Amino acid sequence: MLLFLDTANIDEIKEIAGWGVLDGVTTNPSLASKEGKDFKSQVKEICQIVKGPVSAEVVSTDTEGMLKEGRECAKWASNVVVKCPLTPAGLAATKVLSSEGIRVNVTLCFSVNQALLAARAGAYIVSPFVGRLEDINEDGIEVVAQIVEAYKLHDIKTNVLSASIRTPMHVTQSALVGAQIATMPYKVFKQLVSHPLTDRGLQGFLADWEKAKAVLTSYATTTKS
Ligand code: E4P
Repeated sequence: MLLFLDTANIDEIKEIAGWGVLDGVTTNPSLASKEGKDFKSQVKEICQIVKGPVSAEVVSTDTEGMLKEGRECAKWASNVVVKCPLTPAGLAATKVLSSEGIRVNVTLCFSVNQALLAARAGAYIVSPFVGRLEDINEDGIEVVAQIVEAYKLHDIKTNVLSASIRTPMHVTQSALVGAQIATMPYKVFKQLVSHPLTDRGLQGFLADWEKAKAVLTSYATTTKS
């Protein structure tokens, strides 16, 4: 499963990219609006740091507007993926953009039926929102699992991106149900790497190493004199 960062913050992206495990980035208008920079420069800067797909979302609600924005965003860098909402206008825009060779991430997906529509429209990625489904007492991971299953049954090539991830457990569960991609906030990405036993184990190894070095040094000093 590919690991994406869900942010428009350059420092966060640079830090995780530095680990060598960042496959892509997703942004949305809420995340972009926090950064206080114009959207085009944000996306271009992200695309220079991350070579994988970088999702840039349109804000128009009509098909013509989405097409205009989508075509413009796609020119900013070759790894831009245009994000369109799962609405009738968004599906129509997805159909046209994908027929022009522009990759589209259909976002705000909350059901298998919506995911089937996104696939028929030619989506490169569909983004079911796990956390927001849980906010209304629905099983977000189960929806991801059903989309993966339906796509497999019908040989649909659209990638399932588990979005609105709130916990490291969501990442594990997304991988186990077969999502191709998971996107998560910086905080969750950091949580993926930490484990108290790793820290304790490393401290133990280093302490033993220092002890052994001290013994060797004192042995060398004794044998010289
Ligand atoms: C996905 O691409 C969205 O940007 C994101 O995952 C939304 O997450 P949220 O529900 O935490 O805002």
